[in-house]
Amino acid sequence: TNIILLGPPGAGKGTQARRLVEERGMVQLSTGDMLREAKDSGTEMGNKVAEVMAKGQLVTDEIVIGLIEEKLAADGGAGFIFDGFPRTLGQADALGRLLARMGQKLDAVIEMQVDDEALVSRITGRYTCGDCGEVYHDETKPTKESGKCDVCGSSNLKRRADDNADSLRTRLMEYYKKTSPLIGYYYHAGELFQIDGLAEMNAVGDAISRVLDQQN
Ligand code: AP5
Ligand code: ZN
Repeated sequence: TNIILLGPPGAGKGTQARRLVEERGMVQLSTGDMLREAKDSGTEMGNKVAEVMAKGQLVTDEIVIGLIEEKLAADGGAGFIFDGFPRTLGQADALGRLLARMGQKLDAVIEMQVDDEALVSRITGRYTCGDCGEVYHDETKPTKESGKCDVCGSSNLKRRADDNADSLRTRLMEYYKKTSPLIGYYYHAGELFQIDGLAEMNAVGDAISRVLDQQN
């Protein structure tokens, strides 16, 4: 089963994708994570990307489509979870072509609906483990032991450079302008499922599971 998790910054895409990887053996393809890796690599492309991301703007279609294309060559396990991709109509078209070329298709596009106000507190309270990638939140999901990752025990907990009020404003604008048209696009394709992303984490997970269990 191949799915897209669609939603604004902070909607909970990464949180739910990690859960699907663990519960179902699916493979998470997060373009945000791939771009942050590129950034850490210190290459010319990485440095260019870092600047754009810190401001909250979208990276070019060409770069992200290239990254996805590389990853799709690997084994998809029980299916791919596209997390934060596609984000433009151009990326959506490219994904359709890439999947068709592999003899695969998209099974569901899950739109996680969360209002802007909730997004601000989700983003400003977020931190992640720099070693295993687990996602935490100051209020809704703190580490059990202060300063130490529950999953791997690492004390390398980090906040993202773009998780500030200024960049978030730009990220939201980019979402409404360039990404939200995908909702209509996938609705017309008959692939769209909308869920309440404001619910508690486990309830959101259950809603996603129900959509997945309806497939094939
Ligand atoms: P990306 O890394 O994709 O960031 P994003 O879309 O802004 O999404 P986030 O990672 O911020 O949020 P999320 O929905 O995963 O939420 P999370 O689960 O962490 O992209 C970053 C940048 O890279 C972009 O701005 C752009 O520059 C570039 N980029 C990436 N992909 C691109 C593409 N395809 N094209 C062009 N450019 C691209 O949850 C957030 C917080 O809330 C956490 O603290 C979590 O613990 C908490 N939380 C989660 N669920 C709940 C819940 N149900 N209740 C309470 N709290 C919750
Ligand atoms: Zn960890």
